[in-house]
Amino acid sequence: MPHALIVGDDIHTREVIAALCLAENFSIAVASGLRESLVQVASQRPDIAFVDLALPEGSGLDFFSQIESRKTTDIVLLAGDATVESAVEALRMGAADYLVKPVNFRRLQWLLGRVPRRFERKGMSGMQRGAAARVGHFGPMLGTAPVMRKLYHRIDRVAPTEATVLLLGESGTGKEIAAQTIHDLSLRRRQPFLPVNCGAISPQLIESEIFGHEKGSFTGADRQHKGYFERANGGTLFLDEITEMPLELQVKLLRVLETGAFMRIGSNLELATDVRIIAASNRDPEEAIADGRLRLDLYHRLNVFPLLIPPLRERGTDVELLARFFLEDLNAMNQTAKVLSEEGVASLAAYHWPGNVRELRNYVQRAFILSDQVIDAAALAPAMTTQSPAGLALAIPVGTSLAEVDRKLIFATLELCGGVKKRAADILGISLKTLYNRLEEYGPPAVIQSPAQDRSQV
Ligand SMILES: Nc1ncnc2c1ncn2[C@@H]1O[C@H](COP(=O)(O)OP(=O)(O)OP(=O)(O)O)[C@@H](O)[C@H]1O
Ligand SMILES: [Mg+2]
Repeated sequence: MPHALIVGDDIHTREVIAALCLAENFSIAVASGLRESLVQVASQRPDIAFVDLALPEGSGLDFFSQIESRKTTDIVLLAGDATVESAVEALRMGAADYLVKPVNFRRLQWLLGRVPRRFERKGMSGMQRGAAARVGHFGPMLGTAPVMRKLYHRIDRVAPTEATVLLLGESGTGKEIAAQTIHDLSLRRRQPFLPVNCGAISPQLIESEIFGHEKGSFTGADRQHKGYFERANGGTLFLDEITEMPLELQVKLLRVLETGAFMRIGSNLELATDVRIIAASNRDPEEAIADGRLRLDLYHRLNVFPLLIPPLRERGTDVELLARFFLEDLNAMNQTAKVLSEEGVASLAAYHWPGNVRELRNYVQRAFILSDQVIDAAALAPAMTTQSPAGLALAIPVGTSLAEVDRKLIFATLELCGGVKKRAADILGISLKTLYNRLEEYGPPAVIQSPAQDRSQV
C-alpha cells in the first residue's frame, strides 16, 4: 500500500487530503510542523508528501533540505493564493507539483493516481492483494486482468535497473504509458522523460533531432541545436516506432548505445551520454529484420528486457473497467452523470478492439457525445460494426479544395481504423511516414477535451 504524509497545521485541508488518500487506498501519516514531519519520515518513507508552504516553524520549502528521499518521494506543495510564487520556486527546487488551497479534488486525485504502486513480489497478504485489485491500477496504467498483473510485476522489477527495455505490442495497447511508468518508477524519475516518435520526424531532420548539430553544419543550421540525447541527459529517452528509424541512423544509434558517447552533427567533440533507452515497436521485430527495416545488431542491443503489452481483447473485464474510467473522466470534465447501459457494456465486451485502448477511448468519447443520459448498445454499435471502407462515404461539396479533401479522407479513414495508423496508411495506399507527415501538417482533428488524452508528445 502506498504511503502519504500530510504536513501542515491547517486542519481542514489536512482532513480533505487524508480522506481522499484513504479512499484511494493510501496509508497516511500527519504532522503539524517540520519537526514532527521528520519523525514521521523516519518511521515510514512516504511515496507522496503534501507539505503546506506556510508552516508554524517556517517555510514548507525547508522540508526539501530535510528529506533525503526526494528521489522516491513526490513532494506536493500546498499554497495559499499569496504564496503561489514560492510554489513556483518549489517546482524549481524539485517539487513534483503544487496545489492551491482550497485543494481541487480532481487534481488531487490525479496526483495520487500518478504515484506508482508496487505490487509486492513476496509476502503480500491476502488483504493487501485484495486492496491492490480494488484499486485496479499501476501508476497511470489501469487494469486488473492476469496478463496486466504479470506485466506490472515485470515493470516493477525492471524499472529501478538501468536495463534497456523493448516494448512490443499492437497499436494503442499502451506502450507509451508503460514507458512513462517505467521512468516514473526509476531513480531517473526527477530527470526528463523524452518520447521521440522515430516515424514522425522527417528523415532529413531525424539525425539532427536525435544528436543535435553545430551552427553552420548544414544549410539552415543557423544556430547550435541540442538533440534528444543531450536534452534527456540523466533521464530516459523513449524511442517509439524504432523500426521506422532510417537504417543509417540505426548504425549511429547502436554506436552511441555501445560507447555511451555521441557527437553533434558538424562536431568532432565526443559528448558522454547518461540516458536510459526504452524502445517500442508495434511491428514484429523479427519480421522487421527480415524486411530489412530493423538492423539485427541494433535489435540485439535493444532487446535486453522485452516486454509484451497484451492486446485489449486478451484483458477480459478490463474493457469494462477502462470504459467506465474514460466515461467518469468525461462526466467530470463536462459536469454530467451519463452511465453505460448493461447492453452497452455487453457490446463492448463482444468487440475485438483492433485499435486497443485508444480505440476504446475514442468509442466512449463518441458515444458520450451521441447519448443523453444512458449510453446504450445502439450508441456504441454503429462504430463497432466492422465496415469495409467502401461501406462508408464522405460527402464532399464541389468547390472543396483538393487539400481539404485529402485532410477529410485521412481523418475519416483513421477513424474507420480506430486510430490504427498502419491500417489507415495501407487503406489509403500511402506509407506510414507520409501519413505521419500529413497528420503533423493538419494538426489534431477537433475532439472534446479529455484529460485521458495522450499527454506527452514531442
Ligand atoms: N492500461 C491503460 N490504462 C489507461 N489508459 C491507457 C492504458 N493503456 C493505454 N491507455 C491510453 O490509451 C491511449 C493509447 O496508449 P499509448 O499511446 O500508450 O499506446 P501505444 O501502444 O503507444 O500506441 P501506438 O502504437 O499507436 O503508438 C492513451 O491515451 C493512453 O493513455
Ligand atoms: Mg505510442
